[in-house]
Amino acid sequence: MDSKLPVSSTNLMEPTPRRTFMCAAAAIVIGGVASFVPVVCGLLCFLDPILRRGNSVTASDGFLKAANVSDLPSDGTPERFTLRTDSRDAWTLYRSRVIGSIYLRKINDQVIAFNDTCPHLGCKVDYHEPTQRFFCPCHQSSFNLDGARQNKTPPRNLDALTVEIRGDKVYVKYQNFRTGDPQKQAIG
Ligand code: FES
Repeated sequence: MDSKLPVSSTNLMEPTPRRTFMCAAAAIVIGGVASFVPVVCGLLCFLDPILRRGNSVTASDGFLKAANVSDLPSDGTPERFTLRTDSRDAWTLYRSRVIGSIYLRKINDQVIAFNDTCPHLGCKVDYHEPTQRFFCPCHQSSFNLDGARQNKTPPRNLDALTVEIRGDKVYVKYQNFRTGDPQKQAIG
């Protein structure tokens, strides 16, 4: 008598518990890897603005090109210049955005710069050619050519900025300062 059991087609096709387990484990691993990559990429993209150092793309040393030395009047008359830079707000890059304006004066081989914001309450000062003074229209205050206040309404002189001459270019370290304060305190 043949002791072997007949092999049915059902026995051949039916997966063993071990094979089922291996298939399930492989599916979990492959599925996990497949979903891990896009999740990490999405997360990095989402966190990109936070992971960046700072939110500005100004020159790494903080100086901005303001003018050519040769463009400045040689008699020391102030010239106003607008400063622009690229800036980033979260995911948005703004190119050539105006960040402020300054006055430059060339005195012999030197260039001096002032922020054109009045240190009293932040109005813009204008250069008044006939009197050769900077004039603040908000409270009728004035500053002489060296930035010294001519009355007591502004709590301090005009804010001088650091200048570097590189070849024929004038670079300025642009900063804003707290208004209404006798001390010159940088903000931002
Ligand atoms: Fe300039 Fe007041 S804002 S004097």
